[in-house]
Amino acid sequence: MSPQTDEREKEYPPLEKVPVHVGIIMDGNGRWARERGLPRLAGHRAGVENLRRVLRAAVEFGIKILTIYAFSTENWGRPKEEVEGLLNLMERAIDRELPELHREGVQIRHIGRLDRVPERLKQKILHALNVTRENQRLILNVAFNYGGRAEIVDAVRRIVADGVPPEQVNEALISRYLYTAGLPDPDLIIRTSGEMRLSNFLIWQGAYAEYYVTPTYWPDFDKDELYKALVDFGRRERRFGLLPG
Ligand code: IPE
Ligand code: IPE
Ligand code: MG
Repeated sequence: MSPQTDEREKEYPPLEKVPVHVGIIMDGNGRWARERGLPRLAGHRAGVENLRRVLRAAVEFGIKILTIYAFSTENWGRPKEEVEGLLNLMERAIDRELPELHREGVQIRHIGRLDRVPERLKQKILHALNVTRENQRLILNVAFNYGGRAEIVDAVRRIVADGVPPEQVNEALISRYLYTAGLPDPDLIIRTSGEMRLSNFLIWQGAYAEYYVTPTYWPDFDKDELYKALVDFGRRERRFGLLPG
């Protein structure tokens, strides 16, 4: 971790409300790199580095579940060098970070499809899930080769394969067949780099999430930025279709 002494020592007033489950669309790595005259992959590397400090801040602020969008089912369509670079980065991040994440009590989960993922990386992912499965401090749900539509397709296939009678299909049942089965829906979804779209992220689970978009690129999204998003969340009135309370 890069020395962020000033950040660590800074006092943050207690938050009004802390979301249990936060989703983050970690976007803007490419633009961050371009603005510095660097290759896109340098932006992805900076993005991985940033994840360490955001994770630490999330634990400190009391977030229990963090779902991060790392690679979408659509991202396979990027140039081969970028896709390979991203797969390599994922592998290196697991090698390097797993011991510390485990020590800090982070339970790593994966959501998405593992079918197209190269065998060696797949084994590393499965190993990380296995090693950390009993940890309780924070659930880090990594959306990797994830797509919200693919997730619903996979759920429907399994519902049909299980022979579930049509009258038993309801929202709760569908939720139990999603990759996020057993986890509460996200309360807050943050997107960095200013884009106001979902890009296929948690489209079912995010039905009543609060959305927060910041123009800051992901590599620059630090503890202060996370705090600002949480303060903003605290001011929102969640109505779930009912009348103001
Ligand atoms: C997000 O950054 C990371 C991934 C999609 C893997 P981008 O690579 O999308 O960065 P921009 O949007 O091009 O700036
Ligand atoms: C969403 O970002 C996917 C991830 C952050 C992993 P993209 O950059 O792929 O999304 P679009 O193309 O801007 O919608
Ligand atoms: Mg992008």
